[in-house]
Amino acid sequence: MNKLLEIKNLKKYFPVKSNWLEPMRFVHAVDDISFSINKGETFGLVGESGCGKTTVGRTVLRLYEPTSGSIVYDGNDITKGDMLPYRRKMQIIFQDPYASLDPRMTVGDIIAEAMDIHRLSGTRTERDEKIHDLLTLVGLSPEHGCRYPHEFSGGQRQRIGIARALAVRPEFIVCDEPISALDVSIQAQVMNMLEDLQRDFQLTYLFIAHDLAVVKHISTNVGVMYLGKMMEITNTEELYKSPLHPYTQALLSAIPVPDPKISRSRKRVPLEGDVPSPIDPPPGCRFRQRCKYAMPVCSEADPVLKEVGPGHWCACYLLEK
Ligand SMILES: Nc1ncnc2c1ncn2[C@@H]1O[C@H](COP(=O)(O)OP(=O)(O)OP(=O)(O)O)[C@@H](O)[C@H]1O
Ligand SMILES: [Mg+2]
Repeated sequence: MNKLLEIKNLKKYFPVKSNWLEPMRFVHAVDDISFSINKGETFGLVGESGCGKTTVGRTVLRLYEPTSGSIVYDGNDITKGDMLPYRRKMQIIFQDPYASLDPRMTVGDIIAEAMDIHRLSGTRTERDEKIHDLLTLVGLSPEHGCRYPHEFSGGQRQRIGIARALAVRPEFIVCDEPISALDVSIQAQVMNMLEDLQRDFQLTYLFIAHDLAVVKHISTNVGVMYLGKMMEITNTEELYKSPLHPYTQALLSAIPVPDPKISRSRKRVPLEGDVPSPIDPPPGCRFRQRCKYAMPVCSEADPVLKEVGPGHWCACYLLEK
């Protein structure tokens, strides 16, 4: 399998303003993570709110400049330098369908904006035809093109966001929690649509979600993030069958099971407490304050993400005994 995206030791720190007497402090939003995505596959990135998922997605697209590390896209190092040749190929569907569409532009212009920039629109008639086709592709009707974003429901707006991403015929799309802001009844529709589009256009996805249930069907591999760190990476089947990291186990046990027999017999590992602050975190495992297996070694140094089984990576001292 061909690797389309390879991320190595990626870091993104945001400076936080303090008063001038104090030294500068940093939010360690993404702190040394590595993973790769094969062509045509989906990498599911999961973790609680604030653990750095959006920052990973945006840094991979260089919407944020990485603090350090490397991003290799289709064999080319894109960590530095001109992103223009890659902008068309790498798109994003934003987390918030309400905030990501310009309220002053018609839906047609929103969809065609990137086509215009990349000179893919063609003549006026061709441009209109392309807008119509894209609207139909995402399950909207062609006359929606003349309307403004506020005239749509959340689900429809997310479809507009998807049409906009598809307009420039991308190869890779960061789907940043594309269904979290939507009603449960439309979540499945949008998920199915994303899966169909992936198959029809051979798309590669970085699919971000805060819940392991969402990424289960669409992902080939899943990475579990906690406070800027990657805790576990493996293929989807293995992750749901034998999760190794205590954090992954806790996330999995939070998913409701429809069968009461299985639900009763399943061991529940409740997650207590909140995610600690990502500002200059102390050394050691980031999860240790909430981990019921925490040992003295856990606060000494960061556990390293190690391959503990074929293709199964985990960062936990429990697996090093
Ligand atoms: N532009 C920024 N400037 C400063 N800090 C930021 C910036 N963007 C994100 N952060 C901080 O980085 C951390 C990670 O944020 P991020 O948005 O990546 O989390 P997330 O996992 O996407 O959360 P959610 O599930 O709520 O979307 C947070 O502590 C956040 O406050
Ligand atoms: Mg986010």
